[in-house]
Amino acid sequence: MSNENYTIPQHVAIIMDGNGRWAKKRMMPRTYGHVQGSKTVEQVCEAAWKMGIKYLTVYAFSTENWKRPEQEVNTLMDLLRDYMKDCIQKSSKNNMRVRVIGDITRLDEDLQLSIRELERVSAKNTGLNFQVALNYGGRDEILRAAKRLAKDCAEGKISAKELDAMQENDFEHYLDTKEIPSPELLIRTSGELRLSNYMLWQLAYAEFYFTDVLWPDFDKKELKKAIDYYNKRDRRFGGI
Ligand code: IPE
Ligand code: IPE
Ligand code: MG
Repeated sequence: MSNENYTIPQHVAIIMDGNGRWAKKRMMPRTYGHVQGSKTVEQVCEAAWKMGIKYLTVYAFSTENWKRPEQEVNTLMDLLRDYMKDCIQKSSKNNMRVRVIGDITRLDEDLQLSIRELERVSAKNTGLNFQVALNYGGRDEILRAAKRLAKDCAEGKISAKELDAMQENDFEHYLDTKEIPSPELLIRTSGELRLSNYMLWQLAYAEFYFTDVLWPDFDKKELKKAIDYYNKRDRRFGGI
């Protein structure tokens, strides 16, 4: 591949999957896989920024993940808690702007506060834009957006005429990802070939890269492979 045509996607979305299987392979509890997986996140953020990726969005907890055993959900929430706190401390050093997408109102109060605090302290950072999808579901996001729009209509903030003239990019202002460009590349680890309710609106024209590598084993080299794959795609957007 010639260097001059090599492009780095502006926004990469990742479904970090396979933590449980990674741990099982080592005769360890699934939660151990989540601990390792959270360490991978930090390395991948750094690698992504060094490669020139400006936006990275990771799926950390889906609206369906509440179905898991209580103890596993608690471990995941504790890890997220630790992550938010740690990231608040490191925010000026790593220069990352962190945002959470998803319905955080179902999370514990203290976790919600940490999220708001992290979003606030990192808001002016100029490095990687890092989005964490937490209690996130693509359908839920679209439904919440539709409800907000309906509320604006009911309150008279949007007239019937304006509603009629509304374009896709106007609707996007109601999504959790407002101000964030759509991902050009989706990566899913662990060999599953499905979206599991991730960024349904935003991934409409993304390239999909699936790898059998389990999330705790994902690294800079694997990220580079995904970008190489992306560069081999012919993106037509409905044209010829
Ligand atoms: C991904 O790993 C992490 C979350 C969904 C929170 P999994 O926990 O889904 O791991 P597998 O898919 O069971 O191996
Ligand atoms: C998707 O992984 C959600 C996250 C990575 C947070 P799951 O492991 O929950 O998805 P399914 O159950 O295999 O579809
Ligand atoms: Mg899984």
